[in-house]
Amino acid sequence: MSRSAHPAGPRHADVLPEGHYTAPAEDLNALDPKVWAHTVGRDADGVVTVGGIAVTQLAEEYGTPAYILDEADFRDRARAWRTAFGNDADVFYAGKAFLSRAVVRWLHEEGLNLDVCSGGELATALSAGMPAERIAFHGNNKSPEEIERAVRAGVGRIVLDSFQEIVRVAHIAQSLGTRQRVQIRITVGVEAHTHEFIATAHEDQKFGIPLAGGQAAEAVRRALQLDGLEVIGIHSHIGSQIFDMSGFEVAAHRVVGLLKDIRDEHGVELPEIDLGGGLGIAYTSDDDPREPHEIAKALTEIVTRECEAARLATPRISVEPGRAIVGPTAFTLYEVGTVKPLDGLRTYVSVDGGMSDNIRTALYDAEYSVALASRTSDAEPMLVRVVGKHCESGDIVVKDAFLPGDLAPGDLIAVPATGAYCRSMASNYNHVLRPPVVAVRDGAARVIVRRETEEDLLRLDVG
Ligand code: LLP
Repeated sequence: MSRSAHPAGPRHADVLPEGHYTAPAEDLNALDPKVWAHTVGRDADGVVTVGGIAVTQLAEEYGTPAYILDEADFRDRARAWRTAFGNDADVFYAGKAFLSRAVVRWLHEEGLNLDVCSGGELATALSAGMPAERIAFHGNNKSPEEIERAVRAGVGRIVLDSFQEIVRVAHIAQSLGTRQRVQIRITVGVEAHTHEFIATAHEDQKFGIPLAGGQAAEAVRRALQLDGLEVIGIHSHIGSQIFDMSGFEVAAHRVVGLLKDIRDEHGVELPEIDLGGGLGIAYTSDDDPREPHEIAKALTEIVTRECEAARLATPRISVEPGRAIVGPTAFTLYEVGTVKPLDGLRTYVSVDGGMSDNIRTALYDAEYSVALASRTSDAEPMLVRVVGKHCESGDIVVKDAFLPGDLAPGDLIAVPATGAYCRSMASNYNHVLRPPVVAVRDGAARVIVRRETEEDLLRLDVG
């Protein structure tokens, strides 16, 4: 279980579970399919391949560091979510996990919808041809300009996050002579078992309108009265990197309770509920994520059961997985620059990227695994910490892992499960250039987001 999903919950996230990383894996050359993209393997020379291409060739062609994304795997996972939920539910991919125009096209082709949370994400989605009615617009402080663009574009739904926003969106829609379909995001008071910074449904945080104290009911009451709004449902997102379905169960119970109160008070049965995203993935072999069909079955059963008990027609369900679709599909390919053994402690392996391409370890104490990718080795395992090239001791990519003891400068190593929230949260710290995203499929590779250049940096710096 990774630290970002600590079993004791966010308040205890600074304590590692006992027995963590006490021993190296039996075979350091093995690639656990749980953490690697579907088409990853090793060729006859022991070089890691993806989509039929060796990483040594990718490194030569595109340089390192680079995010290498398995397009077939992305499509497989997107399709698995789509199929699992069938025609009676909608899957919105959460663009914040990783968004590019190629990704938008793949989603469109695979029949998924898209959740965006800024003008930039909306622009990316529209420019790649995602039909506006299949876009949901999120965020706790959308600017009036962003709202206007979204309404004008005709987005399928705006998720309202505060009392001010209810009035703001209603006013903008009305002044544009339209009615905007909206959901109201509520916080159901569930403390998800995940890192504090990525838990979102306990009450003491910025998102949504609390169910507690009748505030959510009051928000719905106000929204129903406004001509500019068509209230289609209630939204709840309880957090991220969650394995345990019980949080969703409580959330669904409370959301359905609100739907019932709305029906009783206003005689209106809202037709949709959105249960958000947040399903966990395997970052290390210790994590055991559920398959989309199990999640779909569990969520559908919970909602159906709760609605039957409340004598409500079952609403249309939507979900918003981001990490669970894109997370496992990519790995980051680095070149080793230095190998520094510290006697009695561990060996520090410095790579050519770092916290600028993966801030998750520093920010959430996230755990990752790592493998020697340009060859295999039978050398004894050594305990390593993979660190970046930034001027900061917290610049850690993989905190504790084992790599072969003969690791040397020039070797390529790969960190799996970096598809979500790595490129999308990448920075230019120390004026390090953000790596490209290279998509690989059926023996062909292409850059879908190019590497940043010094020219890019200097273009923003107007002197
Ligand atoms: N829906 C809403 C309303 C969200 O706020 C999020 C994530 C998602 C869906 C997608 O969650 P996912 O299925 O990807 O877990 N940067 C953090 C994660 C922040 C998530 C923010 N909201 C990380 O790297 O773990």
